Amino acid sequence: MKDPKPLCYQARMAILKVARLGNPVLRTPAREVPAAEVNQPDFQRFIDDMVTTMREYQGVGLAAVQVHEPRQLAVLEVADNARYPGKAAVPLSVLVNPAIVPLDDKTEEDWEGCLSIPEIRGRVPRYKNLRVTALDREGKELEFVASGFHARVIQHEVDHLRGHVYLDRMPDLSTLTYLTELSRYWTDR
Ligand code: NI
Repeated sequence: MKDPKPLCYQARMAILKVARLGNPVLRTPAREVPAAEVNQPDFQRFIDDMVTTMREYQGVGLAAVQVHEPRQLAVLEVADNARYPGKAAVPLSVLVNPAIVPLDDKTEEDWEGCLSIPEIRGRVPRYKNLRVTALDREGKELEFVASGFHARVIQHEVDHLRGHVYLDRMPDLSTLTYLTELSRYWTDR
């Protein structure tokens, strides 16, 4: 109990409070992060806290605006997630100042949820294939192609950073459902 190390380590990790729908921060477009700021200890700690918070609430992605910081930062990770069973794995990714361009016109519809809109799912059309540019957590330039569920999560998070939520992307709200009703009435999961 004398070793202060675990305490220090613990003190660095924080579960952040997630803003819920109606909080104006979710409708605030996020500011770009200066590249020089990415490597700063405060920003690195904030990234760690975002990852801890995403995992705590079993999210597959989290945007900084959702934890009351209107900065262009999102984290994502898909790994055997109970909230999204059967989805292809996406390794932990940190995207600073992400920008996306659809690679073609192909779209697909699937269920989507959001930690800021608890207990609800709705079907949302999204582009299938994207080119993504961003800075990684070291401030280095990233460029990659994302497809399917990975592309969906990125579009969802980039929307957050522009002040949008997935409800804004639903052309038809009739699929909105609580989770309990989803498993009860909707077989197409
Ligand atoms: Ni969300």
